Amino acid sequence: MIRSHKNKDGFTVIEVENRQATAKLALQGAHLFHYQKQGEQPLLWCSKLRYFRHGKAIRGGMPICWPWFGKHPDDPALPQHGFARTSLFELVAMSEPDEDTTELVLQLKDSPESLALWPYLFRLRLVVVIGRTLSVALITLNQDQQPFTVSSALHTYFTVDHIDNVKVEGLAGATYLDTLTGKTVQQVGNIAINAEVDRVYHAAPLINLHDGVRTIQVRPEGSGSTVVWNPWQEKAESMADMDDYTTMLCIETANAMQDARLVAPGAEHTLRVELF
Ligand code: BG6
Repeated sequence: MIRSHKNKDGFTVIEVENRQATAKLALQGAHLFHYQKQGEQPLLWCSKLRYFRHGKAIRGGMPICWPWFGKHPDDPALPQHGFARTSLFELVAMSEPDEDTTELVLQLKDSPESLALWPYLFRLRLVVVIGRTLSVALITLNQDQQPFTVSSALHTYFTVDHIDNVKVEGLAGATYLDTLTGKTVQQVGNIAINAEVDRVYHAAPLINLHDGVRTIQVRPEGSGSTVVWNPWQEKAESMADMDDYTTMLCIETANAMQDARLVAPGAEHTLRVELF
């Protein structure tokens, strides 16, 4: 089943249900904000305050950071994490190849608004495959006459049973930029979270996120960087829409910092994540 409706805030939302899972995606930002396997807890965390405001990203799910991750490299006045997450995408294809699988394709193209922020012609597609696993591919096509560089992230907010019990396995030995201190550090062992964490790991291995109750597997492709973020108490309290930092952790499949990708005219780059 694929259904589309306008929610009370005027957002067009696509709802999917098949034999394996349910999902919800807003056309603003091609923003997947719910995915749940049948018989399991939701995989994606979403703020219960769930602000749907035009021009503001939903706090939770899987916002798309594109065409830059974090602050713009040259102009800090430009929107953090780029403009894709607040732009209106178009649903260009949908299919249900079998009772277990639903595929959606969303698209954003350059516009006068995008050109004012980023002066390139492009086509950005998000291919979402909802089934027993969730696969999300962000495909950048350069339709300009000149090359451009994109940094990006599939900024995934995972639901965890409790942050105190979380262990992130897979990044031991990797170096990361601790953006809270500006220092580069080497990860020793698994990651546990007991304070604010905001790190860009210079690696994108297969990750197992254990929360003491279940294990979520994150398989990146086309990525060489992983962002791990939890705002913890004080920062969460300063944010209008972060209602519970104890049940979430962001593990973001990224092309961040030196992992930004140069895309030649006519060429494509795909950043993909599959969640098990
Ligand atoms: C993370 C960044 O990717 O996103 C953090 O590393 C940032 O620094 C977080 O705070 C949330 O960003 P925003 O713009 O959605 O509040």
